[in-house]
Amino acid sequence: MKKLRIGLAGLGVVGKGVYDILTKDAKLLEVRSNASLELVAVSARSKKDFLNPKIKFYENAVDLANDPEIDVIIEVIGGNKTAKDLLQAALKNGKKFVTANKALIAEEGFELAQLEEKSQSCIRFEAAVAAATPIIKTFREGLAANEIKEFYAILNGTCNFILTKMKNENLDFAVALKEAQDLGYAESDPTFDIKGIDTAHKLAILAAIASGTKPAFKQLHIEGVDEVTIEDIKLADELGYKIKLLATYKNLGESMQQAVYPALVKNSDKISQVDSAFNAILTKASNANWNMLIGSGAGSLPTASGIVADLVDIANGRTNYMFGVKSEHLREAKINNISQRFGKYFLKLLINKDLAQKTNLAEVLFGSKLQIEKAAFIDKNSEILCAFLTDEQKEQDVLDILKNLDSNLVKSAKFLRVEETNSF
Ligand SMILES: NC(=O)c1ccc[n+]([C@@H]2O[C@H](COP(=O)([O-])OP(=O)(O)OC[C@H]3O[C@@H](n4cnc5c(N)ncnc54)[C@H](OP(=O)(O)O)[C@@H]3O)[C@@H](O)[C@H]2O)c1
Repeated sequence: MKKLRIGLAGLGVVGKGVYDILTKDAKLLEVRSNASLELVAVSARSKKDFLNPKIKFYENAVDLANDPEIDVIIEVIGGNKTAKDLLQAALKNGKKFVTANKALIAEEGFELAQLEEKSQSCIRFEAAVAAATPIIKTFREGLAANEIKEFYAILNGTCNFILTKMKNENLDFAVALKEAQDLGYAESDPTFDIKGIDTAHKLAILAAIASGTKPAFKQLHIEGVDEVTIEDIKLADELGYKIKLLATYKNLGESMQQAVYPALVKNSDKISQVDSAFNAILTKASNANWNMLIGSGAGSLPTASGIVADLVDIANGRTNYMFGVKSEHLREAKINNISQRFGKYFLKLLINKDLAQKTNLAEVLFGSKLQIEKAAFIDKNSEILCAFLTDEQKEQDVLDILKNLDSNLVKSAKFLRVEETNSF
């Protein structure tokens, strides 16, 4: 029986999950891999009680790369510095590399793709985007016969959990966030999650595979969920929509949209039904038409599931270029400024009640510049909070209209974007 000898860097939430799957599912994995998957060495900042004492322990993770008994290294440390040092040393020494590190792949993906080819080794990262939900394999191999036209994805379980809690239990953002932290869904410093950065890392990776371009994290427009209010959620609900934090990708021919923002999605739309901490990716592909994957996007065993699937592929010699094509074919991404977006908008205006006539308010405010499809209102003593759902507009035009509203009538004006997929 062939052996695949593994070095595991990181024994935290995900590392422990990998350890557990390799231990409890050894027989199943052996049959599927046509090899025995043997964990020979690990590294963490401190030793763990659960470790089998026969397994070597390295204090310095990079030492795993110099161990001749190791064929493949799994990196679940996180961060850029040690993780990248380990990756470079591992590939230099002919070892294969599996990681769940989305920041590293999103920010340095092109350089890593070149390194992968130069070293004739391989870098796999199924767990980096949606953990147990196999979207990398789906985009790179399963949909290889398609152009990806557009996708809308919920890629951060913490944010989805918070938005679901707010809606179902009528909670303010801060209270829902605290609950997510108490339940272990959100980190004590939740900035990367709630500001949309984690989602943007994952979008950059998926969009690179979808479009055959270099990951373009630095060019992305990113908004998080931290400014979504319970009033936004109630008004959206009255109009027949939910609010979801979406990673959006649209192939516009010469250019594309890649952006992260909280968006209104119709209650009847499949992706709006994905609640709590689940992830989902709704994709329109040129030949396959619509496709949606839903699953766990984080957690110990779910994330380890994606990692171990990569190990099984490696054991079977099923490798592919990181982004599905040779790095020389990866083009520069031409991403439109978000002000060029064309779509519907949810406008939220705080209106001086004395001056407002609810019946013809939309006409007074927008004249013929905007068509309003639906409206909802919340009465607030001396003011009315109004939500208007517009027809399709260019974002720059919406910004101009909002800037020029009568300031005696309108005390504040904000907007959210609306995504209607009409998928299934
Ligand atoms: N958690 C999830 O659900 C999830 C989902 C998808 C992807 N990921 C990604 O998976 C990676 C790991 O996440 P995690 O949640 O497992 O993190 P974690 O619980 O904080 O674990 C990190 C592990 O790395 C070890 N470590 C840190 N610095 C090290 C160093 N310089 N040398 C050796 N070991 C070091 C830590 O050692 P000690 O234990 O001794 O402190 C710990 O065991 C990250 O890239 C994350 O983005 C996580």
